Amino acid sequence: MATELGIALLGAGTVGAAVARELDAHADRLAQRSGGPLVLRRLAERDPARLRALRLDGVTVGDDAEAAVAAPDVDIVVELLGGLNPAGALLETALGRGLGAVTANKAVIATGGRRLAAAVRPGSGGLAFEAAVGAAMPVLAMLRDSLRGDEVHSITAVINGTTNHILRRLEEGDGFDRAVADAQQRGFAEADPSSDLDGHDAAQKLCILAWFAMGADVTPDQVQRRGIRGIEPEDLRAASGLGSVVRLVARAERSGAGLELTVQPTLVPRPGHPLGDLEGADNAVLVESDLAGRLLLRGRGAGADAAASAVLSDLVVVARARREGRVLPLPPAAPVPVRDAEASMSEAWLRLRLAGGKGGAAGDARRTLQQAGVTVERTTAGVDEGEVEVLTGPTSRAALARALEAFHAAGAPASVAQTMDRLEPLA
Ligand SMILES: NC(=O)c1ccc[n+]([C@@H]2O[C@H](COP(=O)([O-])OP(=O)(O)OC[C@H]3O[C@@H](n4cnc5c(N)ncnc54)[C@H](OP(=O)(O)O)[C@@H]3O)[C@@H](O)[C@H]2O)c1
Repeated sequence: MATELGIALLGAGTVGAAVARELDAHADRLAQRSGGPLVLRRLAERDPARLRALRLDGVTVGDDAEAAVAAPDVDIVVELLGGLNPAGALLETALGRGLGAVTANKAVIATGGRRLAAAVRPGSGGLAFEAAVGAAMPVLAMLRDSLRGDEVHSITAVINGTTNHILRRLEEGDGFDRAVADAQQRGFAEADPSSDLDGHDAAQKLCILAWFAMGADVTPDQVQRRGIRGIEPEDLRAASGLGSVVRLVARAERSGAGLELTVQPTLVPRPGHPLGDLEGADNAVLVESDLAGRLLLRGRGAGADAAASAVLSDLVVVARARREGRVLPLPPAAPVPVRDAEASMSEAWLRLRLAGGKGGAAGDARRTLQQAGVTVERTTAGVDEGEVEVLTGPTSRAALARALEAFHAAGAPASVAQTMDRLEPLA
């Protein structure tokens, strides 16, 4: 009979409670797959209300996460507290003690994942964090295990479900604040939704993807980040007039001059692009590499069961590795040059409001753009009177910034109602 492995679960919130329930309900299945029983021995949770619906016979329960990590009967720590502190320090302590560790914590992994990887002890089982990006989508496993011989050129992803929901509500005509309140009511957005709205959440996940796909040791402060604040229902109406929607798109792209990392609200063709029809908590990651070509992974990027699916899978993999005296391999990462906003390129969409009463304002606006160095690919009349939509070709962000400055100057032929990146339809 294989020996039992003791689990310490830190946090019994949305994801932690689902993991505790599954450990109890599917103990046999998990034991069979991981090579022996996985026994929940410690549970640390500071909110007693969270424990009421759980069956915790034989489990030592308390509010002290440090004590759970230090307990002598624990082999693997599952961290589901969220936030940077104390989660990061607890994981480091667990790994330093030679324990295996599983986490869903994108903030900790994006900022300190390489340090934690270095703290893994031989034979411990290692460190796994599939749920940190895209919850149920096995995107890290795919990048780690299935593209080992490929060179990944780019990743284009929608990895934040909250902003999908809010942008969808804006499409239906809701104002921004109402759309955010609705997302909160339905449990998509947290009480403080700024991590989602301002793109921090997507930037953290993008850094983890860049690590696994490109071996890049990068941190969220290197991502050119803009969230979805300031986007109005009129923008979504205009996007619809162009056969498109707006989504918060995270991109990592290799170029000769380095890696470009962006999280930006983006005009996405619908139909025509697989990121265009994502709704609710659905996430998708499009990977382009030299040998495999284009791969698309799509699935539930949030929710208790979706995240628990990834956590349990990690737990099985780490437990099996520990029983076999191995660790789960993590891809190596090295610092890479990251292009700043000045040097990077984008294809953009501009909604211009032409200055009233000026004959030929559209032509003047076009000239302003060209003088700033912006390549204009197409202009069309906007959905509202006096507006014009401009789609640029590949243009440096510096040229775009010069054009925006020119439009802000007195006597400019047009004012800028909105501007954002855009994606081309995929052939
Ligand atoms: N929810 C999802 O869909 C999802 C998907 C993928 C990944 N994740 C990740 O999974 C992790 C957990 O998310 P969640 O949604 O389950 O969060 P959650 O519902 O807020 O659960 C966290 C629980 O841990 C407790 N806690 C926090 N710090 C503690 C401490 N120092 N000692 C003891 N208890 C503590 C919290 O108590 P209080 O309520 O008192 O703070 C809460 O009950 C996060 O890293 C998140 O990013 C979540």
